[in-house]
Amino acid sequence: MTATPERLARELEAARRRTLLLTDHDAPELLRQHSPLMSPLVWDLAHVGQQEDLWLLRGGDARRPGLLPPAVEALYDAFTHPRAVRDRLPLLPPVEARAYVREVRGRVLDRLERLGPDDDPFDVAMVVSHEAQHAETMLQTLGLRTGPPLLGDGDPLPPGRPGVAGTSVPVPGGPFVLGVDAADEPFSLDNERPAHVVDVPAFRIGRVPVTNAEYAAFVADGGYDTPRWWSARGWAHRQEAGLTGPRNWSPDGTVRTRFGVLEEVPPDEPVQHVTFFEAEAYAAWAGARLPTEAEWEKAAVWDPATGGRRRWPWGDADPTPAVANLGGGALRPAPAGAYPASASPCGAEQMIGDVWEWTSSDFTAWPGFRPMLYADYSAPFFGGDYKVLRGGAWSVEPSILRPSFRNWDHPVRRQVFSGLRLAWDA
Ligand SMILES: [Fe+2]
Repeated sequence: MTATPERLARELEAARRRTLLLTDHDAPELLRQHSPLMSPLVWDLAHVGQQEDLWLLRGGDARRPGLLPPAVEALYDAFTHPRAVRDRLPLLPPVEARAYVREVRGRVLDRLERLGPDDDPFDVAMVVSHEAQHAETMLQTLGLRTGPPLLGDGDPLPPGRPGVAGTSVPVPGGPFVLGVDAADEPFSLDNERPAHVVDVPAFRIGRVPVTNAEYAAFVADGGYDTPRWWSARGWAHRQEAGLTGPRNWSPDGTVRTRFGVLEEVPPDEPVQHVTFFEAEAYAAWAGARLPTEAEWEKAAVWDPATGGRRRWPWGDADPTPAVANLGGGALRPAPAGAYPASASPCGAEQMIGDVWEWTSSDFTAWPGFRPMLYADYSAPFFGGDYKVLRGGAWSVEPSILRPSFRNWDHPVRRQVFSGLRLAWDA
């Protein structure tokens, strides 16, 4: 990726268009706490401006005055105020929040014009990534909202291919390079670095993610009533939370999807909105397991023919709508087999986009980890109760994603656009 100021400005503006689209609602909608898991949308809106102000106008030094009075700025510190109580904070009203983010952005663009060849554009890319990740967070919030549909029908998607779901491909054993370095991926975030060699024995992986039809067979087979498929923690959660199927599924075979639309569960779409525990139980029922992160990344990019990584599963070119469902416009995952041209060297398809895929791995630092300027992005979460998700979902902005991108969440969460792909020992 060449990081010209023009390109960075374009990516900042693309992220902003999404932010504004997702917050283009009336004030009560923006101020409402739709779920204790998520912030009111107006918090996310001002928070993206606050972070941009901090990282790009003050070099990350919070002691330097920002555009907001310190007491107001403090409302947008994600570590101080839990999401569940953010609607009780004296937040900036929507009109003021919009004016604030506009003012910050104007100053940032002025600076960007003066960027010299010696300036490191990484911090700008980091802020683009932050804002785009909040767009996805806001989509999760809107997914938990009740009420009539708010976001329209979504953009059309290519059709699936029959006979692809439920099949698998072999991945050869041996060493492979996990993670990336700044030299190759200058905008990779700290937790994706550094590149290092790991030995991954031979295994098989699902050609595509698990579909709704496959998952429905697990539900119909009494999967949610059979403790043997579940881990002890998973079963305890299944009982305590009263889970009976993926989020928004009804026993009559309908699903509340696309932010308020009720429809028949689409059989060929990858299942989404499952917890790690459900993914793990489904895999056990199917006689399989979840892949580790290393396996997932190897299946996505390792090319045995060259002994090296591809930049993307399909090759060097950045994602387009011909190979991946990204960017948030579709409002849903594409059916299994929709992207034959997305195949990785081993033949796995739809590794990028559609649904985040739960892996069996805990979120840990790669050996040699060094925190980036935003030092609290990854490090406070290493070793916590988190499982890693890979590949990005339909909701993710393509410019911030890479096959090495690591997402993480608690194993009980499913407001995430999360699904799974199976793996087997060879
Ligand atoms: Fe944030």
